[in-house]
Amino acid sequence: MPRVFSGVQPTGNLHLGNYLGAIRNFVSLQDEHETIYCVVDLHAITVQQDPAALREQILEVAATFIAAGIDPKRSIIFNQSRVVQHAELAWIFNCVARLGWLNRMTQFKEKAGKHRENASAGLYVYPCLMAADILAYQADRVPVGDDQRQHLELARDIAQKFNHDYGREFFPIIEPLIHGQATRVMSLRDGRAKMSKSDPSEQSRIGLTDDADTIARKIRRARTDPERLPDEAALADDGGLSPDLVDARPEAANLLTIFAALARKPVADVVASYAGAEFSRFKTDLAELAVASLAPLADRTRSLLDERAELEAILDSGAERATAIAQPVVNEVKRIVGFL
Ligand code: TYM
Repeated sequence: MPRVFSGVQPTGNLHLGNYLGAIRNFVSLQDEHETIYCVVDLHAITVQQDPAALREQILEVAATFIAAGIDPKRSIIFNQSRVVQHAELAWIFNCVARLGWLNRMTQFKEKAGKHRENASAGLYVYPCLMAADILAYQADRVPVGDDQRQHLELARDIAQKFNHDYGREFFPIIEPLIHGQATRVMSLRDGRAKMSKSDPSEQSRIGLTDDADTIARKIRRARTDPERLPDEAALADDGGLSPDLVDARPEAANLLTIFAALARKPVADVVASYAGAEFSRFKTDLAELAVASLAPLADRTRSLLDERAELEAILDSGAERATAIAQPVVNEVKRIVGFL
C-alpha cells in the first residue's frame, strides 16, 4: 500500500486554507493508503514560540485532525519531537542539501523578510527537516497546499542526491499530491496574498475555531470589487476559472473557489448559479455554507480538547507506531553513511 505523510505546524490560527488545501484531503487518503499525519513541533520553533501556548497548539492540531475525520486507529497521528529519527535524519540531510538549493527557497525569503541576519539557522534548514519527515518513513505521497511545492521539489532533490552519492536506490521519489479545488486559498482582505497564519489581520482568514458570527462577519466584510459576479465567460475550457478572471478579479475568484470547495461542487456550477448576482446575496449564502461546514468541526475540536488525557494517549501511541517505522529506516541510513 502506498505510504502517505504530511505535517501541519502547531503555530496557532489554523485556517480555512489549511483545511481545504490539506487537512480535508488527508481524510479521504486513509481509504487506500497507509497514512501518517504529524504535528510538526520541531518546525514550529524555527520562529520563537511561547512554550505553554505551543503545548496547547500541538493538542489543538491533533484534535482538529481527528475532528476533521482522521481516524487515529487507521492513521498514525503524532507530534514530531517525540520521534527522534526526524532530527537525526535532518542532520544527515543538512549535509546532503547544497547552500545554493536552500538559497532559492522563496518561503525562507518571505519569512525572514528584511531581517534575514536575525532569522534562526533552523528557519534556513527547515526544508531539510521537512525532507527528513517524509523520508524517515520512505513515504512517497505527500498531500499539501500549493505553497509547499518548492519544498517538496527540494526534498526530492535531497533523496536523489543521497541515492546517487551512496550508489543505492534507497529513498523513493516523492510525489506531491496538490489536489482538491482550493490548493491556494487567498486572504479575504487581498486576493493576491495567500491566506496565512502569520497575517497580522484576523479579518484576512477564517479560523477553524471561529464561531458562526465571526465567520459570517468576516465573509460579509471580505474585500470584493464593484462589479457583479461573473458569468460563464469567466470559465476556462477545462471548466475552471479562467486565468484572466483570476488576474483581473482575484477576490471574486477566491470567494467563488471557496464556495465551490465547501459545497464540493464544480466551480462552473457556482458561477452558473450566481452569474450577474450582487455580492451581497452571494456572501450571505457563502457565510451560511461556511458556518454549516465549519461549525461542527469547531464543536468536535472543542469537545476533543476537553478529553485531554485521551488526546495525549493518541499522541503517545502514534509516536510509538511512527518510531517502529522510522527507526529501522534511519538505522539503515546510518549504516549506508558509514556510522558505526
Ligand atoms: P503549514 O503548517 O504552513 O500548513 C499546513 C498545510 O496547509 C496548507 N496551506 C494552504 N493550502 C491552501 N491555501 C492556503 N492559503 C494554505 N495555507 C497553508 C499547506 O500547504 C500545508 O499543506 N512545511 C509545512 C509543514 C510540514 C510538512 C512536512 C508538510 C513539515 N513537514 C512534511 C508535508 C510533509 C508547513 O509549514 O505547513
